[in-house]
Amino acid sequence: MTIFLPFKKLTYFTIQPSTMGYIQPLNRLKKFFHNLGFWRSSLIFAALFLSIILLTKIAIAQQPVTLNLLMTAPDADPWRQGLVKDFESKHPGIRINIIEGPNATNLIEDLYTSAFILGDSPYDLVNMDVIWTSKFAAAGWLLDLTDRITPKELTAFSAKDVEGGTYQGKLYRIPLRSDAGMLYYREDLLQQAGLKPPETFEQLMNYSKVLQRNDKARWGYIWQGRQYEGLVAMFLEVLEGFGGYWVNPQTLEVGLDRPETLRAIAFLQNTVKQGVSPPGVTTYQEEETRRIFQSGQAVFLRSWPYVWPLANQPNSKINGKIGIKPMVHAPGQSSAATLGGWGLGIAKTTRHPEEAWKAIQYFSSREAQKQFILKAGYVPSRRELFTDPQIVAKYPHFPQLLEVVDSAVLRPPIAQYAQASDILQRYLSGALTGRMAPENAMKSAADETRRLLRAGQARKSA
Ligand code: GLC
Repeated sequence: MTIFLPFKKLTYFTIQPSTMGYIQPLNRLKKFFHNLGFWRSSLIFAALFLSIILLTKIAIAQQPVTLNLLMTAPDADPWRQGLVKDFESKHPGIRINIIEGPNATNLIEDLYTSAFILGDSPYDLVNMDVIWTSKFAAAGWLLDLTDRITPKELTAFSAKDVEGGTYQGKLYRIPLRSDAGMLYYREDLLQQAGLKPPETFEQLMNYSKVLQRNDKARWGYIWQGRQYEGLVAMFLEVLEGFGGYWVNPQTLEVGLDRPETLRAIAFLQNTVKQGVSPPGVTTYQEEETRRIFQSGQAVFLRSWPYVWPLANQPNSKINGKIGIKPMVHAPGQSSAATLGGWGLGIAKTTRHPEEAWKAIQYFSSREAQKQFILKAGYVPSRRELFTDPQIVAKYPHFPQLLEVVDSAVLRPPIAQYAQASDILQRYLSGALTGRMAPENAMKSAADETRRLLRAGQARKSA
C-alpha cells in the first residue's frame, strides 16, 4: 500500500503488511497535512527541523566541558580528593579528568611531548615540572599567559617559581607548587646518640656509621640513584655542596669535567662502598627511598618536602621522630637545594582555553592552595602561605622551608634541557654503577653537553 506525505515527489513509500498497525495514524497525518496545504505544511516541517537542531545544540552546550590533565601517579590522588573536587563543586560546567601517568617526571614529559608532536593532543591543561617551560614554550605547544595576569598579581608567588614559568620574557606556566631538595634525619636517633644534625658530608657519613654499628638503623643515607631526572636533581645538590656546577645559565659554560664533579661522584660511590647506602640505591626513585626511610630503616634521606606529611602519618613508623634541614656540604661551602616545582600551562591545541584558565585561576588561588597544602603537605607557590598560622601549626618546618626555597637553584632554563639532563643521567649512572670510570664518564658528558649547547646557540643565531 502506498502513502503520500506532503513532499510529493520524495515522501511516498510502501507499507509492508507487518507495519499495517501504523496506517491509521499515518493516514490521519496525511489528511492533516493535506488540509493544511503544501506550503504551510512544508513550513511547519522546516520549523520542526530547525527546533530539533537548536535543542540538540543547547543540550550539547549544557554538557560539562572536560579538561584533561596528565600528572605523575603519586600526585593524582591528592589532586582528585582536594583541588578537583572543590573546583568542580564551584564550577558545575567544567569537569577535570585527571590522567594518572608514571612516577618519573621525565616519563610524563615524554608523554606530553609525543602527544604534542603528533598534533591533536588530548591534553587541555599541562601540569609542568619547572624544567619543561623553555622546551615546551620554544616548541610552540603552550598558550602565552602573559596578558592574563598582572605583574602585581605575580608578586604573590615566589620569584624563582615565576622565573621557572617564563621563556623569553613571556609567561607560560602559573606556579602551583614549589619544591626544594632537603635532608631528612631521625631526630630521635641523633638525640639518643648525643649528635646534632650533620652539616658536612663527612659528618653525615660518620653519624650514619655510628648509628648503624649500634644497630639503631640498617642504613645510614638513602638517595635517588636511578637513571632519571631525580638523579640529576639530587646530584646537583651534592655537586654544588662541593663547590661545583653543571651548566652556568648565563655563560653556558659546562663544569662537569672539573675536579669538584669527581669529588661529588666519589662521595656518592663511597656511601655504597662503605655500606652507608644500600647497593640498590642506584635503582631508586623518590618513592622507593621514602618507603625505606618511612619504615624506620634509615637515618638520613635526601628528598622533597612531600615526604613530611606521609612520614608523619599516624601509622608511620617514624611519626614524630624526624627533622628536616638543608642538605649537607663540604667544609667552607654552603648547602645547596635544587629548585623543583609544578605549575599549570594551557595546551595550544585545547578547544577550551577559557575554561582551562578558570581552572588555573582557581587552583593557584590562595584559598585552594591553602586547603591543598593542609591536606597534602605540598610546598606552596604563594609566599604568604609559608607563614600562615594554620599551616605553620600543622607544618612547623615551613618558615625554614621558605628560606631553602628562596636559595634553591633552578636547573638551567634552556630549551635543550631534556637533552642536557639525559646526557648527565646516562654518564652519571654509568659512573655510579661502576660501568664507566668517573673521569672518562664526566669528560664525555662535558663534551656532549658543550656540543649540544653550541648547536643550540648556532640554531638561535641562524
Ligand atoms: C620533584 C620536583 C621536580 C623534579 C622531580 C625529580 O617532583 O618537584 O621539579 O624534577 O622531583 O624527580
